[in-house]
Amino acid sequence: MRRTILAALTAMLAFGGIAHAQNFPSRPITIVVPFAAGGPSDVMARILAERMKTTLGETVLIENVTGAGGSIGVGRALRSSPDGYTISFGHLGTHVANGAVYKLGYDLVTDLEPVVLLPSNPMIVVSKNAIPAKSLKELIAWLKERGAPAATGTAGAGSGSHIAGLYFENATGIKLQYVPYRGTGPAMNDLVAGQIDVMFDQLSNSINQVRAGKIRGYAVTDTKRADSAPDIPTTDEAGLPGFHMTLWSGLWVPKGTPKDIVAKLNTAAVDALNDAAVRTQLEKLGLAKPPKDRLSPQALGDWQKAEIAKWWPMIKAANVKVD
Ligand code: MLT
Repeated sequence: MRRTILAALTAMLAFGGIAHAQNFPSRPITIVVPFAAGGPSDVMARILAERMKTTLGETVLIENVTGAGGSIGVGRALRSSPDGYTISFGHLGTHVANGAVYKLGYDLVTDLEPVVLLPSNPMIVVSKNAIPAKSLKELIAWLKERGAPAATGTAGAGSGSHIAGLYFENATGIKLQYVPYRGTGPAMNDLVAGQIDVMFDQLSNSINQVRAGKIRGYAVTDTKRADSAPDIPTTDEAGLPGFHMTLWSGLWVPKGTPKDIVAKLNTAAVDALNDAAVRTQLEKLGLAKPPKDRLSPQALGDWQKAEIAKWWPMIKAANVKVD
């Protein structure tokens, strides 16, 4: 008798899940972007959300939940109901580095289900126009000759721009003063205004300001020049060989979200990445779509784990103090 009841309960739960997935989505979906509007994460999320609506047949909203290097927003998303209606947008900073900087109160691997790897871009070393350097070598000399550390804008401890700064300090022995913002959108405003000295920023966030001559671009952290910025040398060419960093983004949902729902969200994101208009928008920002064989949920999960193994030792060795 007990076995029959148990079997019936299991079937009901499974059926409920299947019915749930079959009806999904039946109301708007929210993507939580853990940085301020106008920054690279927000811009990419909005481009993708607009096209994901077509596949999902429901509105896809963006909610900016900022603070603590993105960890506030990730925590909000992963504590939501595992029903597919709340998605966590994040990247190398929020879904890898944060775990080495903060006592998060959640686990970036076991408390999240990976959905899809999103486009990536190299970082770019940029400065305010007032700095009298015309090359990366001259910028490094200028930074070394200064008395006080130069101010570098970041999206908070553990953000991508912060990790890139730590990596630059490691590579050059130069000390930096980190100025945290709620995203690199607001930080860029202060760089253009000359309020801060440098940034180690996502190319997608800096490229238009560099093109407009509002800030100076020195080098991209890649082994080849960006198609969208062919006049900007690589760090290898510019005198900082091996200083390579790719900032990739992704989507996750709370652990326990039904696999069929994860698959539907993955399909909607992949449809967006394959859409010609979306690809043009992303390529103009220097964002490269992942190859087809890296677009499964499992591929993002494996990549995230590999990146944790790669970056945590350097970040932990930096002994970042967060208040
Ligand atoms: C970062 O530096 O982590 C991101 O570029 C921040 C953002 O997307 O605003």
